[in-house]
Amino acid sequence: MTRLKLTPLKLTGAAVALLLSTSGLWAQEDPFADAVETRHGLMLQMASDLGKIGAMVKGEVAYDSAAAAKAAANVAAVASVISLEQFPAGSEVGKSADSFAKAELWATPDDFLGKLADLNTAAATLVAGAGTDLDTAKAGLGMVGKACAACHETYRQPEG
Ligand code: HEC
Repeated sequence: MTRLKLTPLKLTGAAVALLLSTSGLWAQEDPFADAVETRHGLMLQMASDLGKIGAMVKGEVAYDSAAAAKAAANVAAVASVISLEQFPAGSEVGKSADSFAKAELWATPDDFLGKLADLNTAAATLVAGAGTDLDTAKAGLGMVGKACAACHETYRQPEG
């Protein structure tokens, strides 16, 4: 009788322990966790710098030539760092925690790299004009924004 009563309790405890250790292990052993975190950091840095120029374009803050030029230089620098190195095969959405990269990326890597090259071209235009005046900064921002969106439309799974 005692044994029969204890068994369900033991099973519950074991099940909980198993669940905890399994989720813990998955987080630790996700081989792509570093790459996903790195590419998110790079993307977020570009978004942060673009946001600074965007705030000037929207009139939320006054146009500041030096600040716009610095933000543009940052976007170009970060864009130049991005490569397939931060996108190892297998790190797609559903296979690696926190990844929203679509599997299509690894089916057409040349197209992905082409979109990355387009971003670098647009970023160079932004660098050339961001410090000139607000209108030129706005035009460059638009080009870069389009390059970001073109890649996201194809290779980034929308969140939620
Ligand atoms: C060549 C393709 C490509 C270009 C160009 C690109 N991105 Fe991304 N971006 C991605 C992919 C793929 C993801 C999803 C990565 C993931 O979740 O692992 C992503 C994710 C993001 C995220 C979400 C990061 C997070 O923490 O989840 C932000 C923000 C972002 N990009 C901003 C930008 C901005 C701003 C630009 C332009 C300056 C840009 N991206 C250009 C491919 C691109």
